[in-house]
Amino acid sequence: MKFFLDTPNLEQIQEAQSLGIIDGVTTNPSLMAKEGITGKENILNHYIKICELVDGDVSAEVISTEYEGMIEEGEKLAALHPQIVVKVPVTKNGIKAIKYFSTKGIRTNCTLIFAPGQALLAAKAGASYVSPFVGRLDDISHDGLLLVEQIVDAFNYYGFETQVLAASLRSTLHIVRCMEIGTDVVTCPLKPILGLLDHPLTDKGLKQFLDDHNKANTL
Ligand code: E4P
Repeated sequence: MKFFLDTPNLEQIQEAQSLGIIDGVTTNPSLMAKEGITGKENILNHYIKICELVDGDVSAEVISTEYEGMIEEGEKLAALHPQIVVKVPVTKNGIKAIKYFSTKGIRTNCTLIFAPGQALLAAKAGASYVSPFVGRLDDISHDGLLLVEQIVDAFNYYGFETQVLAASLRSTLHIVRCMEIGTDVVTCPLKPILGLLDHPLTDKGLKQFLDDHNKANTL
């Protein structure tokens, strides 16, 4: 299972990269704005900085909603760095753009997936990744993880090469459930990833080992 970090924050990316457990980064226009990364040139330069920090795929989202705009933007983004994956919303124009990009060898992440049929069309168009949004479905009392499971099962059944990238994950338990489902990739902030390490018996066991060692070696 791959771990992507869901942030454009360079310090967080560097910290995760230094742990050696990060396989890529996802961003979206809201996250970029929240980090204060604004203006066309600054945004493009920031994507390059992220690519230089991590070894894996970096999702960069198009802003256009029209087909021609998506193509122009996506080609520009893809030309920035070989690690860039063009993030495209699952709209009619988005699906058409994903098909175009896949014929040109440009990798895509189809975003804002909230239903299995949307993931199916994205896979048919040749998306490299589909991003079902778990937390946002949970927020409106729908089972976000059930959607991930439905997509993973269908893609396995039909042998689609498109990878399922569980997004909008909010907790450590979301990550564990994605592991049980067999999700290809999870993306979330660093905190829930580090939460995977937490267990009181680990802390207790380690303390006991060190206490015993120190007692035996000070006699
Ligand atoms: C990632 O690709 C998504 O943009 C992101 O996970 C959305 O997360 P949110 O629902 O917490 O904003």
